Formats: sequence, C-alpha cells, structure tokens
Amino acid sequence: MTAVSSAGPAAVSVPGVLERCRELVRPALAEAVGRLHPWVGEMAGYAFGWCEVGGAPAAASGGKGLRQALAVLGAEAAGADGRDGAAAAVAVELVHTFSLLHDDIMDGDGMRRGRPAVWKAYGTGPAVLAGDALFALAVETLAAAPGGAGTLRRLSAALSDLLHGQADDLLFAARPWTGPERVRPEAYRTMAERKTGALLGCAAALGALLGGAPPATADALDRAGRHLGVAFQIVDDILGLWGDPAVTGKPVHADLRERKKTFPVLAALDTAGPAARHLAVRLASDADPAETAALIETAGGRSAALAEARRHLEAAGTALSGVPLRAPAAAALHALPAFVLERIR
Ligand code: IPE
Ligand code: MG
Ligand code: MG
Repeated sequence: MTAVSSAGPAAVSVPGVLERCRELVRPALAEAVGRLHPWVGEMAGYAFGWCEVGGAPAAASGGKGLRQALAVLGAEAAGADGRDGAAAAVAVELVHTFSLLHDDIMDGDGMRRGRPAVWKAYGTGPAVLAGDALFALAVETLAAAPGGAGTLRRLSAALSDLLHGQADDLLFAARPWTGPERVRPEAYRTMAERKTGALLGCAAALGALLGGAPPATADALDRAGRHLGVAFQIVDDILGLWGDPAVTGKPVHADLRERKKTFPVLAALDTAGPAARHLAVRLASDADPAETAALIETAGGRSAALAEARRHLEAAGTALSGVPLRAPAAAALHALPAFVLERIR
C-alpha cells in the first residue's frame, strides 16, 4: 500500500468528490429506503431531498453527504472499490438523517436545508417514527454487510456517543452563562466530539474496515473524523451566529434564542475581560440577538472559535498522515479539513 503524505489539497475538488460519492451510494440508499413502510419511506425521501410532501419528485438539497463520502473514501483508502464501503455509507447516512429528524424536534427548529423540517411538514409523531425507522434500517443494513460483529460494535458505540453528546447539548442549554455552574470550553469539546465527531469518525472507520483495512487504520480514520466533527460543529456554531440563512438553509440566531452553549459564546465569556462582562449582562437579558452576536465577535468569540476549529482540522490531518492510505482517496481525505472551513467564507 502506498503512503500519500502531501498530496496537494488544491488538486482535489471536494464538491466533486462529494457528488461522486453521493452518486455511488444513491442506488443502495434508495434500495434500503424502498424497504420502509411507504409513508415512512416518503418522509425519508423528503428528508433526503428526493421528493415533496405527497411524494412528487423534487430536486431539493439533501445535504452534502459528508458521512457517506467518508465511508466511501475509507474503503478506497484501504485499497478497495468505493462500492465495498456502500453498506457503511448507507448506515451512517441513515443514522445521520435519523438524528436530524429527532434533533429538529428537540431544538424546536422548523427549518432544515431551506425547507420545513420533517416534523413541521408531517407532524411530530410521524417524524419521531420516521427517525426510529431510519435508525433500525441503518442497523439492518450494516448487519447484512460482510463486516461482522466488529462493524456493528463500532456503529453502536458511535450511536451511544451521539446520544450522550445530544443529552449534554440539551442539558447545557439550561445551565447559566456565568458562575461555577457555567459550561467550560473543554466540556463543549467533549460534547461536540460525541454529538458530531463520533459519527464522522465511525463513517470513515467502517468504510475502511469493509474495504479490508487493519484496525489501526480504522482507528486513525476514526480519530481524524472526530477532530473533523468538532471543527465542523464549531463552524456550524459560527454559521448559526453570523451565517446567511439563504446559504445555510436554517434561521440565524436560533442557538442564541435556545440558550445553546455554542463555542463562540463560551470562548468569548472565557476571556473574562470587560467585553466578556458586557456580553454576560446582555445574555442574561432579552437583548436583540443580532446585537448579542456582534458583542460575541467584539469579545473575541468568533476568532477564538475559528482558531479552535483550525486546531482540530490540523489534528485531523495529523491523524490521517499517521497511517498508509491509498491514492487518490488519501488526497480527497486530506482535502476535507480545508473544505470544512470554506463553509464560512
Ligand atoms: C445536531 O446538532 C447534531 C445531532 C443531530 C446529533 P445541532 O442541533 O447543533 O445541529 P443543527 O444546527 O440543528 O444542524
Ligand atoms: Mg439542531
Ligand atoms: Mg441540536
């Protein structure tokens, strides 16, 4: 196996790679969704951007497909055909969609990818059911693949992490902004690694294992995915405060209104200077969220969040460099960190 250490990221078009992986996985994903109850299958199709409410075909944005791409690239980096990672790609994409269906209910967010969230379009009960069905379908898909108990164990562990992180995310919202009960940036990192990083890491690791990689390679890809996930979540936080809803597909300032302990706010408060004290007063009042977002930036929250995201992206690159990965998938994997940051440019 040839090690690729410094393939120039500029040579790789990440959107092109993501599209190729979506095309490669689509038949297997459609086949899996086709096994669902037709009503549940329609909700899944709506969530994937394949159809409108009622089932009419649509070409809506179904998301970037980062997780399925990690699974395909994991298999290819192990020297296998990308299709060998398809079961992993389908499983992680189903888990991701399940988590979003339920997350939008938990967060009370009515918009996702520029359209009404599934619970807004179909009702809360049906959206809970569709999420459960996608969860079950993910496990069924992976269990039918040749990876054995090891892959199912990894998926279960990532699911437990995701739910653990989601629990912390919800509990953090009820904690105060300041004082001994406040949420520290370190606790955020752990929460974000579980909530977002675990599934990204699992995606790449499962793809690699189905592609025949040794456990050490899968572990390195898992570590890389976890760092990528923390950076991705911090970027998501930045977009939630200063992003354009026309681009992100979800309203700005929802995290502030929900008192989510996002990294830019925690980092700003952690500076403990006059701007941080001013910010703390504003957070305790019902201040205009746009003004609060401006104060977070003044207190250094945006730049600290960017710096933290960069640190995790670098760590992802280091994890990737530690194991032999086959070209050209290696170059695509190495290009992902820069792509995560591009979302905020
Ligand atoms: C979603 O986290 C992560 C999971 C569903 C596990 P967020 O609530 O922060 O993400 P968005 O902003 O709704 O996409
Ligand atoms: Mg949410
Ligand atoms: Mg959430």
